[in-house]
Amino acid sequence: MRSFIGRDILSLKDMERDEYFRIFEVADRLKPYAAERRNADLLKHKTLLTAFYQPSTRTRLATEAAMHRLGGHVLGFADARMTRAGDFYQETIKDTVRMLEYYGDVIAMRHYQQGAPHEAAAWASVPVINCGDGWGEHPTQVLTDLYTIWRDKGRLDGLKVLCVGDMRMRTMHSILYAMSQFDMEAFVVSPREMSLRPEFKAEIDERNVAYREFETVEKCIADADVIYMEPVVQADYTQARVEASPDRGRTPAAYQVTRQLLRDKAKSDAIILHSLPRMDELPPDVDSTRHARYWQEAFNGVALRMALLALVLGAAE
Ligand code: CP
Repeated sequence: MRSFIGRDILSLKDMERDEYFRIFEVADRLKPYAAERRNADLLKHKTLLTAFYQPSTRTRLATEAAMHRLGGHVLGFADARMTRAGDFYQETIKDTVRMLEYYGDVIAMRHYQQGAPHEAAAWASVPVINCGDGWGEHPTQVLTDLYTIWRDKGRLDGLKVLCVGDMRMRTMHSILYAMSQFDMEAFVVSPREMSLRPEFKAEIDERNVAYREFETVEKCIADADVIYMEPVVQADYTQARVEASPDRGRTPAAYQVTRQLLRDKAKSDAIILHSLPRMDELPPDVDSTRHARYWQEAFNGVALRMALLALVLGAAE
């Protein structure tokens, strides 16, 4: 297996099967710190720099929480408008990263431009972690999701995963890339204008990912072990920021997972993951069903990022 030390975490395209399990094993080992609200001193000499060019609640704070739990230091920005990249100067990624690499030992970046973290990694001498790039990928979220599934089901092989939402979404790209490493099948449900792009389909076909497309959740939910959700009432992820508008619209029933649908059609032990934030595709009354795992998923996001930080900074090998 390749070493994680000094490695960029940019995409799940090139993550190998054994590497997923190595990350999960380290997450299992570090999770008690988060569960018991204790801080270790594993990374006490290291600093995380968060460079977020797009809003985030979970990804930035879970990554920062993970660094604190490992005893490390954190600095960064959550709004690029307060930096020279977001004002008159529109400072380039190259120039920005050539500064940031002196301020920390690992950079966690979210950006509205697809490929921005990859460009940052090309210029940085420290590891770069992609925390979501435009419509591109969201590897730390999907590692969290697979870890949550693995902990719950005890396996990834043999599972059928219903993916519903906007298939242009970065999480959907990462999870479908990841499935190439496991004996998993995806049922894909989305509005036509948000369906898998032909070039992406060609790529996952090339990687032998098994998937079938359906028009509605109702048509395939009965066979799903995991229901993996994203909104279809969605922001444009190529923008630095999108404000709420009164005409955002509502989610058609075909892309919703309701309590009644779960009761009538879902497997008794099907679990629901949602990277959040949600709109009306997942009504709040589902939270109290036995299917909901998105709060566990949010907690696991801290443990999983502890594992990634420990691995790339050489504290876990
Ligand atoms: N899941 C996720 O990426 O959430 P945030 O946008 O709040 O980071």
